Amino acid sequence: MSIHLCEYNRVFLEKSYFWLNDPILQKNMNINKEISREDQELWYNTLPNREDYKIWGISFGDKPIGACGFRNILNKSGEITIYIGEKDYWGGTGSIVLELLEKKAIDLNFQFLFAKVLKDNNRSYKLFLKKGFNYCGDNGDFYVLKKEI
Ligand SMILES: CC(C)(COP(=O)(O)OP(=O)(O)OC[C@H]1O[C@@H](n2cnc3c(N)ncnc32)[C@H](O)[C@@H]1OP(=O)(O)O)[C@@H](O)C(=O)NCCC(=O)NCCS
Repeated sequence: MSIHLCEYNRVFLEKSYFWLNDPILQKNMNINKEISREDQELWYNTLPNREDYKIWGISFGDKPIGACGFRNILNKSGEITIYIGEKDYWGGTGSIVLELLEKKAIDLNFQFLFAKVLKDNNRSYKLFLKKGFNYCGDNGDFYVLKKEI
């Protein structure tokens, strides 16, 4: 069994309702409100027509464990979004997912990837450094990281 990226469908949408309302994920991702199913539905319906946003589900075998993708896609670059909602899978999975996302970025002909990491999200910051991202700026509560691909 392996970690892979797949279509972000309604199964991941429903799982994400619980993942994104988990207090630990909310803190790590700077989400400051309860995500409602109505919010999710509105967002999900925008996906087919968006050029600036791509998202995939993350599975371990058949088991949905998280989601990841690119937002703010512009000028051959994108900002990584990643959450592994099933916390039992923390520990190595993030690294595999970033490698898979980098392959997607190459397929999309990107030149750069960015990440905005909350300053107290040490786990995420270490993950991005480990996968070759470099600190490139400070944006309020966030560090901005960048990788040329
Ligand atoms: C961030 C996230 C994707 C990382 O996934 P992961 O599977 O734990 O990632 P990895 O284990 O591959 O890498 C994390 C690294 O941080 C290290 N780490 C773990 N806890 C840490 C801590 N408190 N402080 C510093 N480093 C820490 C790990 O040891 C690992 O480094 P290593 O491989 O050298 O041992 C996952 O924790 C997650 O989904 N978090 C919630 C959402 C989130 O924060 N998203 C990122 C928003 S920018």
